[in-house]
Amino acid sequence: MRVGVLASGGGTNLQALLDSCREPAPARIVLVVSNTLEAGALERARRAGVTTAVLHDHQDGAELLGVLREHRVELVVLAGYLKLVPTEVVTAFRDRIINIHPALLPSFGGKGMYGHRVHEAVLASGSTVSGPTVHVVTAEYDRGPIVAQWPVPVRPGDTPESLAARVLAVEHEMLPAVVLAAARAGGVVRLLANGPAFTATQEPAVLGASVEPAGTIRLQKE
Ligand code: GRF
Repeated sequence: MRVGVLASGGGTNLQALLDSCREPAPARIVLVVSNTLEAGALERARRAGVTTAVLHDHQDGAELLGVLREHRVELVVLAGYLKLVPTEVVTAFRDRIINIHPALLPSFGGKGMYGHRVHEAVLASGSTVSGPTVHVVTAEYDRGPIVAQWPVPVRPGDTPESLAARVLAVEHEMLPAVVLAAARAGGVVRLLANGPAFTATQEPAVLGASVEPAGTIRLQKE
């Protein structure tokens, strides 16, 4: 499966994908797109020999759609992408765009909830559990069907930084697990936390999408 990644930041999730989507894995990162030249993710892509593109106008759906089509992208992954994906791209790639968010949606999501603000809100709420969510992207921020979640404890004395680091470590396992399961199934499937591993279900993340049987993916729990 040909995967295109959209990233605005440092790109540690992109790195996890680059590291796990190599021969003979069923998924390949073929394109990395950013809205900013400053994104560290672009440098990671170049180092891995992956084509990069920087959008002139992130609100221009035709521009993004053009570059995704040019590289025959089949699955789009938002890995720390801070802009809203234009509606025409969401429509053209229906059920084939996923995003990773550093909290357990539907809590602590929505417009403006990114970066340390998310972890600050989790700590302020007194919640004892957090963890990343992968979801299918729809027209609204952080609202599409949930693909995978993994609980991460909030510890006494946690700061936004310490909590972010604990969640991020799990993101680096979870996002590649989702992408590889999607590549095996031919569509985005839900992963269920099952003991110390994920079970890739045969259940499409979005009702009505068709998928093939998939196996179990190991994800070491903390
Ligand atoms: C991650 O925490 C991700 O959940 C959020 O943005 C951050 C990106 O980090 N959407 P990186 O650029 O992958 O290091």
